[in-house]
Amino acid sequence: MDNLSEKVAELSKRRGFFFQSSEAYGGVAGFQTYGPEGAELKRKLENSWRENFSRKLGHREIDAPTVMPEPVFEASGHLDGFDDMIVECPECGESIRADHLVEDNTDIDEAEGHSTEQIEVLIEEHDLFCTRCGNSLAGVEVEDFNLMFETSIGPGSGDTGYLRPETAQGIFVEFPRLKEYMRNQLPFGITQIGKAYRNEISPRKGLVRTREFTQAELEHFIDPDEDKPDIRDVRDVELKLYPVEEQQKTDGEYIYATVEEAVEEGLVHEWVAYYLGVAKKWYESIGIDMDRFRFRQHNEGERAHYATDCWDAESDIGDEDEDWLEIAGFAYRGCYDLTKHKEYSGDEKDFQIFKEYDEPKVTEQTELNPDMGYFGPEFGDQAQEVVEELEELKEREPEAFEADKVMIEIDGDNYMIPSEKAGFEKKEVKKSGEHIVPHVVEPSFGVDRTVYTVLVHGFAEDKVDGEDRTLMQLSPEIAPTQVAVFPLMDKEGLGEKAREIASNLREKGFSVKYDDTGNIGKRYRRQDEVGTPICVTVDYETLEEDPETVTLRDRDSTMQKRVKISELEEEISSRL
Ligand code: GLY
Repeated sequence: MDNLSEKVAELSKRRGFFFQSSEAYGGVAGFQTYGPEGAELKRKLENSWRENFSRKLGHREIDAPTVMPEPVFEASGHLDGFDDMIVECPECGESIRADHLVEDNTDIDEAEGHSTEQIEVLIEEHDLFCTRCGNSLAGVEVEDFNLMFETSIGPGSGDTGYLRPETAQGIFVEFPRLKEYMRNQLPFGITQIGKAYRNEISPRKGLVRTREFTQAELEHFIDPDEDKPDIRDVRDVELKLYPVEEQQKTDGEYIYATVEEAVEEGLVHEWVAYYLGVAKKWYESIGIDMDRFRFRQHNEGERAHYATDCWDAESDIGDEDEDWLEIAGFAYRGCYDLTKHKEYSGDEKDFQIFKEYDEPKVTEQTELNPDMGYFGPEFGDQAQEVVEELEELKEREPEAFEADKVMIEIDGDNYMIPSEKAGFEKKEVKKSGEHIVPHVVEPSFGVDRTVYTVLVHGFAEDKVDGEDRTLMQLSPEIAPTQVAVFPLMDKEGLGEKAREIASNLREKGFSVKYDDTGNIGKRYRRQDEVGTPICVTVDYETLEEDPETVTLRDRDSTMQKRVKISELEEEISSRL
């Protein structure tokens, strides 16, 4: 076995990171279970995200339901526009994601932005076959397939609901309450970590494309005319950018720019650039290999229906050949979502923010007070229509009322109306503010794909004392276990001492595993494979020495050092 993804999958299954769910019943594609190591790794990664994208930035987190009623998705555009392209094999009935079929079998890297008709042509031109039975798919219709899981809410026929395809909608629909909580002050950010669901046509590769997955999303509501990101903390972070123009060239290259340069040179929208900087720092801290990482801009056809600009964070999970995987998207969603919910919910004011001016503004307003004692007798049944025409004229061309008479046209006939009968008036109105629809910047992270990248980038093989070794070089920030404590054997007080050390370290807040089974070499290998950065061994010397000492072993270098038990906590803290 030499393929990196196969090795990671094998280790993940054997060591309890992740595996196919419901395997006893044959398993269902697109659903994976995290084992004890994987669940802990994922939890720590989520907590680290929470720390870096919520708490440190002063944002607040919510927890909304995963099932939402149909009107939410009518408004959000997901009912109409959240589709992938499907082609069904007429011979064996296999459903195949049509754009992936094209990407996997031609030189075309990005087929998602093509129309169904264009994909049909490409399938025909390249004479592509069914991936299961080999039947030709030339001439077979390519259709749109909506990715949402539909469900019924309540007994009987119930109301139609959907499992949310993104956690974001749970934030947008609660905007009226959230803005109240935030005392109507922009900017503010709301985060959410939770499950989302997409009925993928062809799920693949373990955690890479699943039908149930976890997102960590941040919706940052801003006033586009006033609010600027504070880039001080990320100004000098260097970004490896792959803009659309470079992707379109045959010899396109990466552009390297700091966050500050990217903003000044107009390469990336300032808010998006700010979050690319925050994200790059975070990805580094959780052990993603920056040599196998980039930010790629979406081309127009690829962008989601709500985005005006979007950059993806991508990791290379390939072995010898590059295989780029989207692990996060940074979208400028503008006022799309709040405007849609404002229209569809009928809650005109609540999806807006009242923006108070520093000083009240005096504006001129015009109004008509028509003299109905004139219009009634003069126009009879048509009086109302005449007044409506005058109102429209006032909006269109208020200066017309400065003349003695104004002309309107009804059903092809012209009428001259004395301006004084229209009661035209100009008024000065003092306004203390106005209602605006905030814009939204959205960093959206795929948690499972990030976990997968951490495993792929952390996977390593070397030789120790002439023996092959496999290890996961996980960052201490997210390693499921930080310290493993072993007695050489559970005899003559060694086990007791080791359990005491493990318990003390747990008290201090470390995640600690105690293990006394098998020979010590095997115990080291087990911990290496689950990425434990430090092992502590209690041996006979421990009990003989005064003060007592233990052996501390480093995962990556396998170097060992004797450390006084009284200094163990400090030594571990500094290494972690
Ligand atoms: N909220 C963005 C996404 O789900 O892709």
